[in-house]
Amino acid sequence: MKNRRKIASVAAIVLFVMLLAVVFSLSTVFERSVVAQNTSKAVTPSPTPEFDQEAALAKLRERIKGKEKLPAEEVFKNIKNFKGVPAGRLLAIMRFGYARSLGVDCTHCHVPGKWASEEKKTKQIARDMHKMAGAINGELLKNMESLGGRQAIVNCTTCHRGEVKPATNLPRPKPNSE
Ligand code: HEC
Ligand code: HEC
Repeated sequence: MKNRRKIASVAAIVLFVMLLAVVFSLSTVFERSVVAQNTSKAVTPSPTPEFDQEAALAKLRERIKGKEKLPAEEVFKNIKNFKGVPAGRLLAIMRFGYARSLGVDCTHCHVPGKWASEEKKTKQIARDMHKMAGAINGELLKNMESLGGRQAIVNCTTCHRGEVKPATNLPRPKPNSE
């Protein structure tokens, strides 16, 4: 009788240890897949280091001097999204709405000086993102009855928050540094 009890408790301990091992290995697999998701490569590499964004903007402002209030499509060559938006505002959108929101400079989407070119595929992605945000705002949020007609909007910053690739999970809390 005593022996049997001993065997049963040893078996229980062995089972428990095995269970712990399974749970532990599953959780590392899970963590790895989360990490893999976060480090996958962005479409294009980081900005050209020698590019001077302030100088480029100053040059563009000089070029459109006196035409800041004209519709962007009359001042620039290749405008699809921002038809009717004043040319001066387009430059502000590029600087704050786009570059700053994504944590990049103009070279992420443009070859400097060739602003109308479609050479970088990130430029078309930005157009498609603009369309997506428009659909979220104009269709999904607008028709969300539970919001009670409140004017809710998302923009590039809502998702990107200074990153090219929006996060899908929060950073791990730092271990207590005391
Ligand atoms: C995230 C991508 C992105 C970034 C970053 C960006 N742009 Fe743009 N830019 C675009 C897109 C998309 C268009 C076209 C808009 C349209 O179709 O209406 C555009 C158009 C322009 C145009 C008009 C060119 C023409 O003649 O048609 C200028 C000028 C311009 N950008 C300057 C800048 C400057 C200066 C910066 C940096 C401060 C910048 N952009 C950063 C995506 C970007
Ligand atoms: C609803 C969330 C959301 C909004 C709003 C949003 N984006 Fe994105 N954006 C994403 C996701 C998700 C990706 C894909 C990241 C990846 O590669 O997995 C992405 C990728 C991009 C890329 C490609 C980046 C690269 O080089 O890999 C560009 C450029 C971009 N977004 C521009 C914009 C611009 C400009 C706006 C505002 C008009 C915008 N996004 C708004 C979610 C969003």
